[in-house]
Amino acid sequence: MSLLAPEWTAIAYLFAAVCFILALKGLSSPRSARRGNLIGAAGAVLAVVTVFFSVRLENIPGILVAIAAGSIIAAPLARRVQMTQMPQLVALFNGVGGGAAALVAVLELQHSEDPWVRVAVAFTMLVGAVSFAGSAVTVAKLQDLISTRPLIFSGMTWAVSIVLLAALAASTLVVATGESFWAVALLLVALVAGALLVLPVGGADVPIVISLLNAFTGLAVAASGIVLGNVLLVVAGTLVGASGAILTRAMAAAMGRGVVGILFGAFRRVSSAGSTAQSDRPVRSSAPEDVAVLLGYAERVVIVPGYGLAVAQGQHTVAELATALEARGVTVDFAIHPVAGRMPGHMNVLLAEANVPYESLKEMAEINPEFANTDVALVVGANDVVNPAAKSSPGSPIYGMPILEVGDAGQVVFLKRSMRPGFAGIENELLYDPKTTLLFGDAKDSLVKVLSALKAL
Ligand code: TAP
Repeated sequence: MSLLAPEWTAIAYLFAAVCFILALKGLSSPRSARRGNLIGAAGAVLAVVTVFFSVRLENIPGILVAIAAGSIIAAPLARRVQMTQMPQLVALFNGVGGGAAALVAVLELQHSEDPWVRVAVAFTMLVGAVSFAGSAVTVAKLQDLISTRPLIFSGMTWAVSIVLLAALAASTLVVATGESFWAVALLLVALVAGALLVLPVGGADVPIVISLLNAFTGLAVAASGIVLGNVLLVVAGTLVGASGAILTRAMAAAMGRGVVGILFGAFRRVSSAGSTAQSDRPVRSSAPEDVAVLLGYAERVVIVPGYGLAVAQGQHTVAELATALEARGVTVDFAIHPVAGRMPGHMNVLLAEANVPYESLKEMAEINPEFANTDVALVVGANDVVNPAAKSSPGSPIYGMPILEVGDAGQVVFLKRSMRPGFAGIENELLYDPKTTLLFGDAKDSLVKVLSALKAL
């Protein structure tokens, strides 16, 4: 097979790089996200096909089998995954990317005579393996295979320090000697380091770590581009690294946390204050008809969607309820917390699916001052994002996270199934507030009942 001329390869890579940049631009808004995703995928296909025609590959059948095996596993997984399990899937794919970069670096070590290239090899192995093991731990936490609470043991600070020092030593030996023995040692130590760094991260902080590990994978891929002499890998890896870093900062800011505090906070804070026990204190619960009256005769209602709305798939019904209320002259807005649900933009995507107009979605900074003029805050399957413990309980896992101030509204109605806490595993004092009413049940069922009671008013 005759190979593509280098200038055509460069042009194809340039096109692919432009596709990746346009993809990121498209992904910055729900309106253009689908198009952005397709453009990014097209860029990736172009990049892979270009490799086949620009490099004399030695084991094409093996490569095709690997591509087919990966596609057969990943495509059905991505098709079937619930929206609520998306962070696990992202973490899984991201971890596999980091692991692949690390393995490529191990194989390339034997061809790397130049010590500077070996620096890139060692960096790729270290960061890629940390990302792989760390991502595996986040998947296990989010899939409830292990506890989502911070997992720490006595002497862990020492263990982490020793493992990090060992990783540094093994990296130095890989660069100095280029021997496979040290490469394998580095891989093993980096895997342990990745797991140890993520195990102490708990509850609400896991998504931030997924985003951070995503940035790590980007850096590992960029470094593997240096190892392989492939400029597109450098560009794509840098884009992933930079966008992962920006997302990490944005999410940490939305939760009122610092990235260092998220990674190492558990070492300082052995106990996580904030009660997890469900108390027997009385709460005020009511029937769908009572909630319909509260909403139907209000002037202003703010709906706060959360993870439970996604679980119940109640987005179409909540949109219908909003329309029915507006038809009665009630002003209705949706308050969107940046980390409501289980992935960035989760509530925006969910409500867009039900054609809720973008203008009705109000971000936290915009809606919080409005709660004081709101008659009813209807909290549908949300908990942590409205939990006042974020302001009042130092040491609580969500302390410092900005919340939607639903407690300022005249009345608060929670739709949830039980008194169980949310993702962070801590009790919500607002449930016991005299101005709060609970309507127990699956959010969609409750919304259907409230809607039909409203229509009968
Ligand atoms: P959560 O605090 O997790 O609360 C969800 C609530 O929904 C729970 O109170 C649960 O109570 C209720 N619920 C679950 N299924 C339901 C159903 N079928 N019908 C009615 N209610 C249902 O959710 P949130 O307020 O959206 O907060 C999100 C949390 O997830 C934050 O801690 C955030 O840090 C974390 N997180 C966020 C992300 C991103 S990036 N968005 C990613 C991972 C984790 P019952 O069980 O009693 O029904």
